Amino acid sequence: MASPMTGYRGPARLLHWIVALAIFVMLPVGGIMVGDDLDRGTQNFLFILHKNLGVIILLLMIVRLAYRVMHPPAPLPATVPGWQKRVAVATHVALYAMVFFMTITGYVRVTMGGFPIEGLGAIGLHPLLPRNEAIAEIAKSLHFYGRFVLVALVLLHIGAALHHAIILRDGVFRRIWPVWRS
Ligand code: HEM
Repeated sequence: MASPMTGYRGPARLLHWIVALAIFVMLPVGGIMVGDDLDRGTQNFLFILHKNLGVIILLLMIVRLAYRVMHPPAPLPATVPGWQKRVAVATHVALYAMVFFMTITGYVRVTMGGFPIEGLGAIGLHPLLPRNEAIAEIAKSLHFYGRFVLVALVLLHIGAALHHAIILRDGVFRRIWPVWRS
């Protein structure tokens, strides 16, 4: 008899780790590419990487959210206190919201600022939004400050995961690790 599902399904695990890895690339690349002391070639490369990987993250997040709605993960073990379950749900909702927030403000900043997103252009997808410098500037500020909220949430999330994996060893980390388990 198959053992009962105790965590996330394979596709949800895979999407989690791909998006996590991509965000670990995006945060430092975003900070480095806006620096003054970069040569033009490196800066262009980092901008292209950041914009296009950012759009891929947005698409993956849409797939991820849809998959989660269709296949909710198994509940947390009964050993996890109620307040921790509530904090976990709130953190996960906030993380999803902030990743969407960062990708959408990035997209608005670029397209309304009149800049290209090379990957979308290559497949014939034109900007969905008209050019508007004022809105592009607002999106730029929101993107800048949003990064601090996202970093705080990621640190909280990693801290809790490590606490479960190393100190409590209560099986919560195995709900999402290894990267694939059907
Ligand atoms: C999870 C997704 C994303 C993260 C974590 C992220 C993170 C960052 C960070 C940390 C910066 C540096 C902010 C600064 O110091 O000014 C930045 C800048 C930037 N990001 Fe993103 N970003 C994401 C998605 C996107 C997307 C989807 C786009 C566009 C399609 C984008 C376009 C930009 C641009 C153009 C800048 C430079 C802002 C400027 O000075 O004009 N980002 N991003």
